Amino acid sequence: MILKKIELHNFRNYESLMTRFYKGINIIYGDNAQGKTNLLESIYCLGLTKSHRSFIDNSLIKNGCEFLMIKGVVSGGLFDKNLQITIDNKSKYFKIDDNSIKKVSDYISNMNIIIFYPDDLEIIKGSPQIRRKYLNMELSQLYNSYYIVLNDYHKLLKMRNEYLKKMNKGMKVDMNYFDIITSYLIDKGITIYQMRFKFIEKLNENCAQIYKDIMGIENFYIEYVSNMKIDDIKDQTIKDKLFERYQKLLPYEQKVCVTTIGPHKDDINFMINDKNLKLFGSQGQQRIAVLALKLAEIPIFKKYKETTPILLLDDVFSELSDDKKNNLIKYISKDIQTIITTTELNNLDAKLVKKAKLFKIEQGKLIKIKEVKDNE
Ligand SMILES: Nc1ncnc2c1ncn2[C@@H]1O[C@H](COP(=O)(O)OP(=O)(O)O)[C@@H](O)[C@H]1O
Ligand SMILES: [Mg+2]
Repeated sequence: MILKKIELHNFRNYESLMTRFYKGINIIYGDNAQGKTNLLESIYCLGLTKSHRSFIDNSLIKNGCEFLMIKGVVSGGLFDKNLQITIDNKSKYFKIDDNSIKKVSDYISNMNIIIFYPDDLEIIKGSPQIRRKYLNMELSQLYNSYYIVLNDYHKLLKMRNEYLKKMNKGMKVDMNYFDIITSYLIDKGITIYQMRFKFIEKLNENCAQIYKDIMGIENFYIEYVSNMKIDDIKDQTIKDKLFERYQKLLPYEQKVCVTTIGPHKDDINFMINDKNLKLFGSQGQQRIAVLALKLAEIPIFKKYKETTPILLLDDVFSELSDDKKNNLIKYISKDIQTIITTTELNNLDAKLVKKAKLFKIEQGKLIKIKEVKDNE
């Protein structure tokens, strides 16, 4: 998949911008606070309808403006697609080829993006919520059905928690209806669990080798940790067993007013030789683990979306030692459209720079420095 062109209006520090990207490697360099991360954020937002770093959509609108608009032309196969997202203080609006799209689920899987940025380290160091957000974003890109089931799950969870609150206050509630909510919640929860579990399995097919290639350390793997304690997902009685557990937990859950088990509480661990990197890993080991995680997604996207994802690397190279940089560069190929930002061109390998389309960025203005012909 290739992002051919992007157009921004009132996005963060960009008043208006229109630029074309090369199908291979693109490098954007410039001083701090000029808009490098903002540009990658806009690309992520065009594909996934939200920022990778901010939970608040309004913060994306340029200060003092009423709305923002991002337009892009992507090509994944024979035809180009025109994507457009508009955000104002009230809502978000999506268009594909000038047709309004009402459901995020119909929009979100049209552009596939893998982003790597310095704060990504939080995927390892941060709270489980960050790791679940990561899983949810990646799986939503891969399968529309995941986004739909996750949305349903969250609606049911909210309803169930409201019931628990009412019970806590001693209000009378329809217990049959409560059981129906619980039963649906379990159904959706099992599907989410299964999809996440398979995704982690697929990641594990690739990530150990990538980790070894870059870091030189063996036995890296990722582990899905679920408090649903599902031993055998093929077990037909799993739903009944879970229902029993929810019932046993009910007196406790009435006290705390929240549903205490389910995929909204699950987590992932990053392991080397059965030791958790979150607790025992050095910063360098953690950084490469996130990189391996993201690179391990590329073959998964190729297989399930039948196209390569667009790779966004935000200031990644400045944090790596020379040997790690060189090991990483082997994974950056001309066959995958890659957009790299850096403060210093010197941080990058000269051969990489030679192959790339080059831009300099200054206060939200992009200046083309070097073009690469599309047939090169
Ligand atoms: N909503 C906004 N409106 C206007 N400017 C913004 C907005 N959000 C961030 N900025 C500005 O964007 C700049 C940071 O851009 P960023 O892309 O993070 O820089 P860098 O090139 O270091 O990656 C800062 O000057 C910041 O003030
Ligand atoms: Mg930045």
